[in-house]
Amino acid sequence: MEYKEFAKYYDRFYKNKDYEKEVGFLMNFIKEGDEIIDIGCGTGIHASLIFQKGFYVDCLDLNDEMLEVAKTRLKSNFYSQNILDINIDKKYDVIISMFAVLNHLKSVDELEKCLSNLRGILKDDGKIIIDLHNPQSSGSKKDSFDNMTRIMEWNYEKKNRIENSKITFMIGYKRYDDSHVFKIFTIDEVKECCTKIGLKVLNVYENYDLDKEGKETSKNLQFVICN
Ligand SMILES: C[S@@+](CC[C@H](N)C(=O)[O-])C[C@H]1O[C@@H](n2cnc3c(N)ncnc32)[C@H](O)[C@@H]1O
Repeated sequence: MEYKEFAKYYDRFYKNKDYEKEVGFLMNFIKEGDEIIDIGCGTGIHASLIFQKGFYVDCLDLNDEMLEVAKTRLKSNFYSQNILDINIDKKYDVIISMFAVLNHLKSVDELEKCLSNLRGILKDDGKIIIDLHNPQSSGSKKDSFDNMTRIMEWNYEKKNRIENSKITFMIGYKRYDDSHVFKIFTIDEVKECCTKIGLKVLNVYENYDLDKEGKETSKNLQFVICN
C-alpha cells in the first residue's frame, strides 16, 4: 500500500519516535525569519513542530493521503510533487528532508537529480538538511501499544546496499501490510553527488546529535549541505 492506507495509522505506528529531539537538532540550523520547506513531509510532524515555534514551513510529498493528514496539522503551502520533479517557484533558507525520504530513490543518479532539484529551490546562503537511513544488518522487531501490534522485518542486502522493509500491524482483528525498498547511500556517494552539482557537505552527524560525527557504521546520518 506504500503510505496509502498506512497514512491513517502512520502517527500511531511511529508514536514513540522522538520527533521533538529531531526538531531540536534541526533548530540549530534555523534562524528567525527563515523560509523553510519539508521535503517528503509525510504527515507533517516535523513541519508542525517547527510551525509551532513561529516559523512558516512549506510541505512537499508525493503521497496525497499523507498530505491530507499533514493538512490537519498546520497551515502551509502543500505541494503534491515528486522529489525527482520539483516545480516550485520559490527559494528557501532551509530545506529539510527527514526520516529516509531520499532512501526511496533507486540509484545514485536519482540522488543526484533530486539534490540538483533541491539546489534549484535553495537560496544562495541556504542549507539543506537530509536525514538518511543506514542499516547495518537484517533484523526484525515486534511490539504492542495503543491496541496496535507492530511487526517490522528488514532484510539488508549489503552487496547492493538495498534494504527490503516489511511492515505489518494489527488493530483488533484487522491486519495491514506495507513494504518499502530503500536504497542505502554511502557518505562518499552523497558527497560526490553534491560536488558534481555545486553543493558542499558541511558536516555529517549521527542520531541528531551535534557532538556525534556520522560514520559508515552509524544507523542514521544527517547531512548538512550548502551551496
Ligand atoms: C518514512 S516517510 C517520512 C515522512 C516524514 N518526513 C517523517 O519524518 O515522518 C517517507 C515519506 O517520503 C515520501 N516520499 C517517498 N518517495 C517520494 C518521492 N519520490 N517524492 C516525494 N515524496 C516521497 C513518502 O510519501 C513518505 O511520506
